[in-house]
Amino acid sequence: MIMRSIDEQGYHFEEWLTPAQIAKDVQQVAEQISADYKNKEPLFVVVLNGAFVFASDLLRALKDIRCEVTFIRVSSYFGMSTTGQLQFIVPLQQVVENRDVIIVEDIVDTGLTIHQLKAHLRGLGASSVKVASMLFKPNKLEYEDARPDYVGREISDEFVIGYGLDFDGFLRNLGSIYKVQE
Ligand code: IMP
Repeated sequence: MIMRSIDEQGYHFEEWLTPAQIAKDVQQVAEQISADYKNKEPLFVVVLNGAFVFASDLLRALKDIRCEVTFIRVSSYFGMSTTGQLQFIVPLQQVVENRDVIIVEDIVDTGLTIHQLKAHLRGLGASSVKVASMLFKPNKLEYEDARPDYVGREISDEFVIGYGLDFDGFLRNLGSIYKVQE
């Protein structure tokens, strides 16, 4: 579903990245990961719900990479702000011990989610843990270890929706990414 602007719960959103622009960003991330993991067999840990769209495009754009994929579901957000507490709604199903793990996220904001997830995965014995995020808000980062290793695009401190990103659970299915207008 593609639209130039969206009105939701009194907020106005304008299209910021078109599907073609997103595809270019994803391609560039896929090329970097393909080069870095050439002779490895990474395990992608996709953070549900938001990252499923990015992960689907990213994994299919990888070149000559033998990999596995698994999912984890965490929650720390309601509406437009964080609650600061990470909950494991769907825990990890896969053994990560001695694996090269790549966490796939939709967006890194304060970094709290990734900070906690990395600690969790390291605690389970992963040999390396890297992060690929479609979007990254560097100005909002509070946890330096959560800085993503692979980023589709950086964004200033604005709320965005679409391409997996939601507003109160809705609008994840939008093919473009939209920014809220103040
Ligand atoms: P962090 O833990 O503060 O880095 O927040 C990461 C999570 O917050 C992401 O996985 C998203 O679910 C959510 N989030 C942060 N910023 C946005 C946004 O602009 N739009 C939609 N969700 C967001």
